[in-house]
Amino acid sequence: MRGVVILGATGSIGRSTLRVIGRHPHLFRAVALTARRDAAGLDALACELEPEFVVLAEEPDPSFRPRWRGEWRVGREALVVAASTPGGDVVVNGLVGVAGLEPTIAALEAGRRLALANKESLVAGGALVMEAVRRGGGELLPVDSEHGAVHQCLAGRPVEQVRRVVLTASGGPFRTLPAERFPEVGPTDALEHPTWDMGAKITVDSATLANKALEVIEAHHLFGLPYDRIEVVVHPESIVHSMVEFRDGSVLAQMGRPTMEVPILYALAYPDRPAEERPPFDPVAASPLTFERPRREDFPLLGIGVDAGREGGVVPAAFNAANEVAVAAFLEGTLAFPDIAEVVSVSLERLERTPLETLADVRRADREARHLASGEVERRAGSRSA
Ligand SMILES: NC(=O)c1ccc[n+]([C@@H]2O[C@H](COP(=O)([O-])OP(=O)(O)OC[C@H]3O[C@@H](n4cnc5c(N)ncnc54)[C@H](OP(=O)(O)O)[C@@H]3O)[C@@H](O)[C@H]2O)c1
Repeated sequence: MRGVVILGATGSIGRSTLRVIGRHPHLFRAVALTARRDAAGLDALACELEPEFVVLAEEPDPSFRPRWRGEWRVGREALVVAASTPGGDVVVNGLVGVAGLEPTIAALEAGRRLALANKESLVAGGALVMEAVRRGGGELLPVDSEHGAVHQCLAGRPVEQVRRVVLTASGGPFRTLPAERFPEVGPTDALEHPTWDMGAKITVDSATLANKALEVIEAHHLFGLPYDRIEVVVHPESIVHSMVEFRDGSVLAQMGRPTMEVPILYALAYPDRPAEERPPFDPVAASPLTFERPRREDFPLLGIGVDAGREGGVVPAAFNAANEVAVAAFLEGTLAFPDIAEVVSVSLERLERTPLETLADVRRADREARHLASGEVERRAGSRSA
């Protein structure tokens, strides 16, 4: 029986994890659950699952009265405590954004298995995260379906045998929309993902292809691959979750219907593969499987993000932070869809390039990029209303 800590239990990854755990009660038990501000949602989960404790990252509304009588902890530090709590054999990081970085490092330094959905951790602090794996002896298993696919195709083979990795992208809701129409696109359109049901931020990132840039950086750190050996292809059916081409010319792909529950179970149970009652995969029904090149000029965040990864230092952290600010402004209706990439690009141009050695370096770059991006969002909002 493995104790599981679920960071971001009220979110899309968190709830998918709870469904997986619910189907395997003899294998997994939720020991700690966290949320940011959905106190009522967390309360309901705690009543049902009776964890050892729950964490709310932000102070709840004073009128909130929990029904669950167990231990409530409040504040960002409590997330770090949850990530390294003794009963947590596996920590699922389903937080959104750079807020996931410190819990990621805490879990790995405490020697836990980390099932990582929060790709922003690796993007912002990749070198620090990989150093935490070495120092703490923890185990890092990807939950992102693409990286879960690569992990399965690699099956422990050394990276020297790999010619390249091909990450697949659904292409998002605007894959075929002419770029001239991007200014008309609003949050509701961007949140209608054709194949995956996910939280708001990643769904917008999928629509801009920023998500794929984040995943390229994530793959670089996770698998120790140089950037010129990581490619992206668009695969609208989201059946092939990624491929690995080996140096002998053999290509392995991992496939399956698009549900996060499969990569989550893989990361929780690895190397075991517990049985699931699913209808068998029907390749004929899934056909045809198609692949296209991404429209890089129309979706510039893919290139901007990969270039940020190649540049390294604090630039990927700044890319992530500026993107978080721009996506939040787009979701609030204060930034136009094509301006998400513009805000990120302008912020990175103005960023002071500094080395990344400590968490303080990441925090500094994150703050600076947020400041630059917020200024640019305000400037654009002002010129729209003028
Ligand atoms: N959803 C997917 O299918 C999917 C697939 C691959 C990778 N991912 C990655 O997984 C991560 C989670 O995505 P998601 O779609 O599950 O997001 P989501 O549905 O928005 O859920 C996020 C969860 O984290 C909590 N949270 C958000 N911001 C926080 C903060 N600053 N501090 C503490 N807690 C915070 C939320 O609490 P509240 O509910 O209280 O706000 C919620 O429990 C992201 O990094 C995403 O890129 C997701």
